Amino acid sequence: MAASAANSVNLHPFMVRIGNISLPAFPLLLAPMEDVSDPPFRAVCKQAGADLMFSEFISSEGLIRDAIKSRQKLDIFDAERPVGIQIFGGDEEAMALSARIVETVNPDLLDINFGCPVKKVVSKGAGAAVLKDVDLMERLTRAVVRSTSLPVTVKTRLGWDADSINIVEVAERMQDIGVQAISIHARTRCQLYRGEADWSWIAKVKENPRMRIPVFGNGDIDSPEKAKAYRDRYGVDGIMIGRAAIGYPWIFREIRHYLETGEHLMPASIGERVHVIRQHLMRSVEWKGRTAGINEMRRHYGNYLKGLPGIREFRQRLVTKSSVEEIDAVLGEVDSTYRDHVFSRWMPEMDAMRCACD
Ligand SMILES: Cc1cc2nc3c(=O)[nH]c(=O)nc-3n(C[C@H](O)[C@H](O)[C@H](O)COP(=O)(O)O)c2cc1C
Repeated sequence: MAASAANSVNLHPFMVRIGNISLPAFPLLLAPMEDVSDPPFRAVCKQAGADLMFSEFISSEGLIRDAIKSRQKLDIFDAERPVGIQIFGGDEEAMALSARIVETVNPDLLDINFGCPVKKVVSKGAGAAVLKDVDLMERLTRAVVRSTSLPVTVKTRLGWDADSINIVEVAERMQDIGVQAISIHARTRCQLYRGEADWSWIAKVKENPRMRIPVFGNGDIDSPEKAKAYRDRYGVDGIMIGRAAIGYPWIFREIRHYLETGEHLMPASIGERVHVIRQHLMRSVEWKGRTAGINEMRRHYGNYLKGLPGIREFRQRLVTKSSVEEIDAVLGEVDSTYRDHVFSRWMPEMDAMRCACD
């Protein structure tokens, strides 16, 4: 199966549809990431080839309470389309009402988070908690599907723990109540980020003859080779990338190029990296304000400048500066100091990045 399915994917220019959204063959998705997949970072990933992107997860309760932080996360921009807004919650009414609120900002789709493993979320019966109660998962999803005309998608995990993996059943039941695509992080809730993501379960979902909606695989994709190998081995309709894109958005174009040509693109040069860091910083300051914009950029410098000999001192300076002008001056020094540096291929340190949700 693997070879013919993979080949057929490349034959059709617009292979993947989510409701009325058309995506290129084998789309590459930017994973929803709290405090990361915000508009400034999404803009950078869009430029670097991401085909579909998702917002950070937003609390349905927070939206209903009109919490400022939740409301700001609803911000989307036409240039980044197609883009989805992700919500989470454990109460049907709150989920229905927040779906209507999300529709007012007109994203391309609405995604439901059913994978977040952290206590403060699962203790409210939300996120991955529903994997222990698929009837509740259905009720929450139905409440959302009935409350919006947007295509509804779901992001989830394999199951609560290794003894209760139920993703094949879950995917089918989600499809049957109107979910238009599903993204699967191939770990159980109890694994958190431990061990390897087991994509063989995603293949089982795809092999289910009743499955019609697109199934996107997620978990540990950190190189073009791995993306190709997992596409060919597990027959997924596309791949969702999270941690490997933090500070290296070029992973999207590198994977796309490798899937289409079998060859590697040169890693992004220092000139391009500094240019993109400056763009990212400016957008971050515009969207979040000077202090928060500067502070929240600090998690990205490490990966953007990874692999440069002696970069530590510059990185220290970048994460301690508190004005755009000062940061820009350090970036100028980095650009001139490493003008002739040739980067080796991008190898992200996945373990370093953990999330507060999922
Ligand atoms: C910092 C961080 C924040 C995250 N926030 C979310 C989130 O808001 N919603 C969600 O569904 N998953 C979230 N995740 C999980 C990712 O979407 C993804 O499923 C996970 O990182 C595995 O993919 P990867 O191996 O490509 O990183 C987050 C992950 C990280 C590292």
